[in-house]
Amino acid sequence: MNVAERDLLDVNQLINLFDVEKLAAERMTPMAYEYVASGAADEFTLRWNRQALDSIKLNTRVLVDVSRIDTRVSLFGLDLAYPILVAPTAYHRTMHPEGELATARGAGAAEALYVVSSFTNTPLSEIASVATQPLWFQLYVSDDREQTKALVQEAEAQGCRALCVTVDTPVAGVRNRQQRVNFAMPEGIRTPHMADAFALTKSLTWKDVDWLQSFAKIPILLKGILNSDDAELAIQAGVSGIIVSNHGGRNLDTVPATIEALPRIAERVNKRVPVLMDGGIRRGTDVVKAIALGANAVLVGKPICFGLACGGADGVAKVLTILRTELELAMALTGKATLTDIDQSVIWR
Ligand code: LAC
Repeated sequence: MNVAERDLLDVNQLINLFDVEKLAAERMTPMAYEYVASGAADEFTLRWNRQALDSIKLNTRVLVDVSRIDTRVSLFGLDLAYPILVAPTAYHRTMHPEGELATARGAGAAEALYVVSSFTNTPLSEIASVATQPLWFQLYVSDDREQTKALVQEAEAQGCRALCVTVDTPVAGVRNRQQRVNFAMPEGIRTPHMADAFALTKSLTWKDVDWLQSFAKIPILLKGILNSDDAELAIQAGVSGIIVSNHGGRNLDTVPATIEALPRIAERVNKRVPVLMDGGIRRGTDVVKAIALGANAVLVGKPICFGLACGGADGVAKVLTILRTELELAMALTGKATLTDIDQSVIWR
């Protein structure tokens, strides 16, 4: 059996996103698996992201016409088929030989928007050349601001439709599991857009947000907001959107689950800008819960990496299709035919 045949066999047996992780654990190198799967320190936040979603109960309504489920959402003038985006994650060639090219093809096949990481192993121009759905770009600001400016301009030149500026990583968290496997880029795998992880800047402030907005031609979202005061400052600074994120539990351990932080941020933002959320989304019901509590859309990171590892582009598409189908089922079973119908009444109190 060659790699493509095995990938196909693998992908066909994946029923849900937990299956994907289980199979990925067998397929990936320990270094790549530990990089993706791990959280910071004792992984409280990593677990809480899931536990908090699991502990929310749904309140269903019956005898609602759900013959037409509509999952479409519009963000910054882009019409998305469903409110699930591919979160930015680094180093895809450590997960599959085709790396980010497979991710872009898989996202395209599943009609999903892909947020490309600054830490890609593939030049953005090559990713853009295979993308059939819109791309956004996740930006890490580096100490070398001229390099950062050039990167923003490259993202724009390659047609990226928005920038997600990561604001929760002046330093990376306590990555014990990465330390145990001596995480490093394998021979021959590069990060063409970032010198290395140590080039991240510790001096990023609201002044840099102003600076980015002074020349960026595409909407800017701040990724990594957990505090409603920061959400307010972001809006005052004029950003176009907010991503509620704890970096997949990878940075500061013991901060709350994103689904817990989301309602108070959404309340403060009060629909002035779109609010997105990532962290622990594994089921269609999780997407319903996030939307009910104020998210316009969600992003998934780890499951995409696991899907990529299991089956390249087909694996990525499979993860997205499973989640999209589960979302449609959850909407039908809760009696919510459109995303705007999903309000707080769908949460059991
Ligand atoms: C990480 C960085 C690259 O979480 O965002 O590993």
